[in-house]
Amino acid sequence: MTKTGHFVTLEGIDGAGKTVQSKLLAERLKAEGIPLVVTREPGGGSGGGPIRDLLTGELTGTYSNETEILLFTADRRNHLDSLIGPALAEGKLVICDRFVDSTRIYQGLGRPQLRRLIDRLHQAVIGLEPDMTFIVDLPVEVAVKRIRTRSGSDRRFEQFGKEISALRDGFRRLADEFPNRCRIVDGTMPPEHLAEELYRMTGSLIS
Ligand code: TYD
Repeated sequence: MTKTGHFVTLEGIDGAGKTVQSKLLAERLKAEGIPLVVTREPGGGSGGGPIRDLLTGELTGTYSNETEILLFTADRRNHLDSLIGPALAEGKLVICDRFVDSTRIYQGLGRPQLRRLIDRLHQAVIGLEPDMTFIVDLPVEVAVKRIRTRSGSDRRFEQFGKEISALRDGFRRLADEFPNRCRIVDGTMPPEHLAEELYRMTGSLIS
């Protein structure tokens, strides 16, 4: 793939506001005529829906860690082939809600062997890191409160069975691991203010 566009990802725990921020950022840049696509994982790109259903539906938790990693990576490869790769080749900005950093944290945190597997697979079949990653950070209590006010989705925390504060710390540590591309931003800011900050930083990347 010849990449002439830019690749921006948003990461963080559930309830951080990544989805809203991706949309606000996309709207703002689109209004300026910047060619872009906004997408998400799991399930982004054509044909991704059924893979997302496998990963987030009834069967969540029934697969082994390794199988989950393979499925998330398969989903990512499909996303790369059907949407991210072509858009970057056309010189577009790609704004993606979650990417490999989510796998590194949700599937790999505290499990060095799994983390190595994730990185090796990523290198072998994806081979693309974002140009810039916004880690939307906020206290766990704030995120939990937000999730509980979303109808129907309050069971997910229990279903995931993960230590949310460990996940938050894991996302924050990514900024030390990948200092060139990762920026920690404050997810407790009013959405319009945070959107302004992301817009400014994305602007400096693409200008
Ligand atoms: P997401 O679509 O961001 O959730 P939301 O409904 O809030 O938009 O992601 C669904 C879940 O999948 C989320 O809890 C994080 C998890 N996930 C992983 O565990 N590994 C991954 O690689 C990705 C991309 C997501």
